[in-house]
Amino acid sequence: MRINKFLADMGVASRRGADEMISAGRVQINGVTATLGATVEETDEVFLDGKKLVREEKKEEYYIMNKPKGVVCTVSDDRGRKTVIDLLPEGVGRVFPVGRLDYATEGLLILTNDGELTNRLTHPANDIPKTYLARIEGTLTEKDLNPIRSGIELDGVLTKKCKAHIVETNKAYTKVHVTITEGRNRQVRRMFEAIGRNVEFLKRISIGQLKLTGLDRGECRPLKENEIEYLKGL
Ligand code: URA
Repeated sequence: MRINKFLADMGVASRRGADEMISAGRVQINGVTATLGATVEETDEVFLDGKKLVREEKKEEYYIMNKPKGVVCTVSDDRGRKTVIDLLPEGVGRVFPVGRLDYATEGLLILTNDGELTNRLTHPANDIPKTYLARIEGTLTEKDLNPIRSGIELDGVLTKKCKAHIVETNKAYTKVHVTITEGRNRQVRRMFEAIGRNVEFLKRISIGQLKLTGLDRGECRPLKENEIEYLKGL
């Protein structure tokens, strides 16, 4: 790893700031003054102003949140809206939402600083099933869901086959469980729009077998060890 990245990762300075420290001769690697562009290995000892920098083990953190609607799924919002990060309790480290739920969508959201797990859960090739409860205006039949099950063209590309079934229907609304293995922009809402129906409420209720239970809107808790292992194995 380049010395300036190492110093930046240690939280000592930005990469540019680190370069200035190196140029000023303040940094040593194994007792030798470092030069710009030098690299460090795991076993090298790095000193700043004569003080040894100790690598701290990066602690991975994993949370499950019941995202409420009206909150954005980003770390900061240029329109000043509340973000999911604002909902985390004090003391939680720097974590990021895994994938996105729309502003108006609620439900199960994972937050972590584990980039590998994030990639795993969001990579489309991994076909991770995500189940949503969608409430649709008016009455629907199982047959009406067939186009959604077999694939809907969105932006010129068919959605993958998915599961959908009605859990309740009456004159006013129909509740449907939809399980998709992709995470395309506003996918569930747009699939229903494509069959001329409006989703008036949308909530993610599970990712694989991990369910959103016991958390009120806006609440979160650390994932348990067995839940983390389960997600890593998906
Ligand atoms: N599908 C949607 O339409 N919105 C979401 O937030 C997630 C899936």
